[in-house]
Amino acid sequence: MCGIVAYIGKEQAFPIILKGLKRLEYRGYDSAGIAVLNDDSSLNNYKRSGKVSELEEFAAQHDSTGTVGIGHTRWATHGLPNNINAHPHVSSDGEMALIHNGIIENYDSLREELMSRGYVFKSETDTEVLIHLIDDIKKNEQVKTAEAVRIALNSVIGAYAIVVLSKDNPNQLVAARKSSPLVVGIGKDGAFYLASDATPIIEYTNEVVYMEDEEIAVVDRNDGLRIFSIQDKEKVPYIQRLELKLEAIEKGGYEHFMLKEIHEQPRSIKDCFRGRLNVDEGWVKLGGIKDYESKLAKAKRIIMVACGTSWHAALVGEYLFEDLARIPVEVEYASEFRYRNPIIDEDDIVIAISQSGETADTLAALNLAKSKGATILGICNVVGSSISRITHAGSYTHAGPEIGVASTKAFTAQVTVLTLMALSIARKKGNLDDTKFRRIITELELIPDKVAKILEQSEKHEEISAVYKDARNALYLGRGNSFPVALEGALKLKEISYIHAEGYPAAEMKHGPIALIDEEMPVFVIATKGPSYEKVVSNIQEVKARKGKIIAVITEGDTQVKAIADHYIEIPDTDENLAPLLATIPLQLISYYVAVMRGANVDQPRNLAKSVTVE
Ligand code: F6R
Repeated sequence: MCGIVAYIGKEQAFPIILKGLKRLEYRGYDSAGIAVLNDDSSLNNYKRSGKVSELEEFAAQHDSTGTVGIGHTRWATHGLPNNINAHPHVSSDGEMALIHNGIIENYDSLREELMSRGYVFKSETDTEVLIHLIDDIKKNEQVKTAEAVRIALNSVIGAYAIVVLSKDNPNQLVAARKSSPLVVGIGKDGAFYLASDATPIIEYTNEVVYMEDEEIAVVDRNDGLRIFSIQDKEKVPYIQRLELKLEAIEKGGYEHFMLKEIHEQPRSIKDCFRGRLNVDEGWVKLGGIKDYESKLAKAKRIIMVACGTSWHAALVGEYLFEDLARIPVEVEYASEFRYRNPIIDEDDIVIAISQSGETADTLAALNLAKSKGATILGICNVVGSSISRITHAGSYTHAGPEIGVASTKAFTAQVTVLTLMALSIARKKGNLDDTKFRRIITELELIPDKVAKILEQSEKHEEISAVYKDARNALYLGRGNSFPVALEGALKLKEISYIHAEGYPAAEMKHGPIALIDEEMPVFVIATKGPSYEKVVSNIQEVKARKGKIIAVITEGDTQVKAIADHYIEIPDTDENLAPLLATIPLQLISYYVAVMRGANVDQPRNLAKSVTVE
């Protein structure tokens, strides 16, 4: 949460930072601010509550020139999203400015200490302690900014990615990270870019350094990039080449990123299994985990940790691993797992699933499991992310950047990786006969075309959305591996259209939620062909008997549900293990159209942020 961008070089900093903040707005959009040091050594700091565009309008009336600057887009944790709490925060003497992503946990005690030394706090943020602390150390210890940052961070508890700009050295920016991500881009002619992820950097350079925890980076127009640990040990920067393309982070003609990402799924699913699946030769392999396949095949249990949509993917994974590989799986909310004193030992395998690879709870759950000796594996989308770096091994989803806050293509890519993993372990264990294996992989290869076929029915999805756009509540029902799809459908609807929605196992409905059903209640039911089909048909009848409205996702050619549903969407037939990859698509589309019809901000829903780097 919160996005940070900084620039130092020969170009004007403000437009570069502004553009970068727009790219990072998915990380938070409660307020935005940019501080630029101009040629007369004036530090101009512009901050506005609301979106980056509001900051842009405001700053257009003022001097924003200068070739070094720092910027921030905020997802509020401590303090309201107003102008004062917006970053950058400036030292009392106006000599230094700082941006921060993360949470300073011991800010209360640091604040008291600093207040007793005469510092006056203007904001309600935890971040403000950092700037005063660095300032205090700089003055008392008579040290330079980088050293003051290092000393200060040794007494800070919490998560941070920070960048500090100081008037006394206009040629330098000092940055540091712990638990919150930070990337340094090495540009041409001595220019440097710092950002929470690579998207603000990609258009200028593809040479980057992903900073590690407890590292400090000093970027200097004259001395280049130097990296130190907070224990003051100099390190050799590890420069990596980005493969990200600029088109991948642009809307490409779509009205919203979410719609673009929904429509990218035929491609993203294909990219996910490219090189990992060969139907003609009859194999599946995931290079990233090959050294752990034997351990996985012998595992007595697997624990999957994740949050939100990724947790729903893990639930689908549970069905796949148990059905195909016959390994018991426990699916845990990372935030609960980490505080539960879980029983884990060296025989356990913990798989984290995370689009961003930065989710604080998932990261902490993994670290806990690692400290107890478990093997930790990751399924991440963002290359070079924290989770992908701390795990013993893992598989990327290769879905490409997901910018819409509501996760869509990342979910189907996660489910695809989990399918490949379950299949390869099942084969290794000898659990899956040739016929079934071949049937599933043949079907898997056809999934992208089948997704494309569902996407062609956008008019039908729009028509249904128009009917239910004013609903106040909605229920989503499914059984077996359609239950996580129901959960995911409900999450998509509530997060972008603000309609209250619940996902339930269809049979659970009669244990409570059935009381909610009346003629106003839309009930989305995943009623595709499979072992629970007849049971789901009975659940539909129960809803109909109470006058609820049924919107059913059915398999092409179905006549029974078609006859009783108020609305239906047909999806192509597939192997029952793969059905979630198709059944999810109509629910994504309907959520999208409903949100658009309600005038909601689809890509940046209120109160949310894409990368949840606070617990
Ligand atoms: C919902 C959504 C969130 C994320 C969750 C975990 O559409 O995007 O629920 O799935 O915050 O994020 P990652 O996968 O980045 O760990």
